[in-house]
Amino acid sequence: MSHLFSEFTLKGVTLRNRIGMSPMTMYRSTDGRLDDYHLMYLGARAAGGFGLVFPEQIAIVPEGRTSVHCAGIYDDAQVEGHARVTSMIKKMGGVAGIQLGHTGRNGSEEPPWAGWGQIAPDQPTGWQVVGPSNIPYGAPKRPYPVHPMTVDEIKAVHQSYADAAVRAAEAGYEWLEMHFAHGYLGSSFFSPLANQRHDEYGGSLENRARFLLEALDAVRAVWPEHLPLTMRLGSDDFHPQGTQFEESVTAIGWMKDHGLDLADVSFGGNTDDMVDPFWNDVSAWVAKAGRIKREVGIPVATSWNLGVPQNADAAVRSGDVDVVLLGRPALPNPHWPVWAARELDHPSPFGLVPSDWAWWLENFRGHGPSIGWPATDAETEVAAFEADLSEPEPNVVAAGDVPVPMTEGASR
Ligand SMILES: Cc1cc2nc3c(=O)[nH]c(=O)nc-3n(C[C@H](O)[C@H](O)[C@H](O)COP(=O)(O)O)c2cc1C
Repeated sequence: MSHLFSEFTLKGVTLRNRIGMSPMTMYRSTDGRLDDYHLMYLGARAAGGFGLVFPEQIAIVPEGRTSVHCAGIYDDAQVEGHARVTSMIKKMGGVAGIQLGHTGRNGSEEPPWAGWGQIAPDQPTGWQVVGPSNIPYGAPKRPYPVHPMTVDEIKAVHQSYADAAVRAAEAGYEWLEMHFAHGYLGSSFFSPLANQRHDEYGGSLENRARFLLEALDAVRAVWPEHLPLTMRLGSDDFHPQGTQFEESVTAIGWMKDHGLDLADVSFGGNTDDMVDPFWNDVSAWVAKAGRIKREVGIPVATSWNLGVPQNADAAVRSGDVDVVLLGRPALPNPHWPVWAARELDHPSPFGLVPSDWAWWLENFRGHGPSIGWPATDAETEVAAFEADLSEPEPNVVAAGDVPVPMTEGASR
């Protein structure tokens, strides 16, 4: 039976476990580049044991970014920053994934801590947002008119997807996810809330899926066949007039026929006016992913509220989910996989960190629990510490001592 720490092979790529760091926009780029910040942040998660590591949504064109502080791969000059990151992730034992995206009508924004508002197109850090139809996401957050894309503009965006995929392969990414969720361009074409076109890109489910399928085709044509091509789909708008989950099951079947290797299931994000939003649900996406896996016959991933190791493991053991993607849990805890491994009684949790660290952690003399994290039995440890303090003993170390394995509280 597969579990959180089983390897996972998709096409020619094997993840060392089923734990991925979900893409998270960091608002830390200048001119769309990845720099030392990203090297530190992403390298640390790979060193912390994540099998798959995504930077953030990476824009295929400048106006496809969330803000001017967001990353892209629309320019050859951006490839080097990505290559440094992929090389570090690989050295640390992880697989580097890229999430290609275009924010569509939800771009031109301030970072969340600056108000998260949309910036007017005539401002220096704003731009004219685009979408399937002239329907703004909605005031007060995103009030500005949306330019409805012409068919030529749609074709140009598909070409930009392909160009970005070529650069992504050159930069060393081995896993490519198309971002068709969270209210961004692909998701807005798929949703009747944002797409009210009367041409071949609007109306029926088949027409609303066309933008996504053509983007997929454009990327599949240039992305190496042996590397996974996946997609995060806004599979449910949680709104009676929005994308319905049933439609998504059908569309993912079509995408599979167009060369999709795995579906990452998430929400539509085309309205704030959701009926029964899922924010606090810990298993809803696991069940939805499982349904897609069974009905479409395609590997699946999902995120949302799976940061408790036992739940993440259960999602895999149940057979519903192939890869668990963690967003917020990865921020405070770059070593989430090591912690989870200890929580789940994995025989070698430190086997997940780089082998030189693992050697020290498993062999260097010293009281195991005093590595400090996580406390195995805090009460016993505190009592032992206090007893030692009240009766201090000399700790004599002979010169030339060689490290010896820990005898108590060993790392396993
Ligand atoms: C800071 C932050 C930035 C995010 N940026 C992206 C993004 O660029 N692309 C994306 O698909 N999802 C993005 N998300 C959503 C996460 O990838 C993930 O799906 C979500 O946080 C749910 O997982 P969690 O419950 O483990 O946090 C972001 C989430 C956070 C917290």
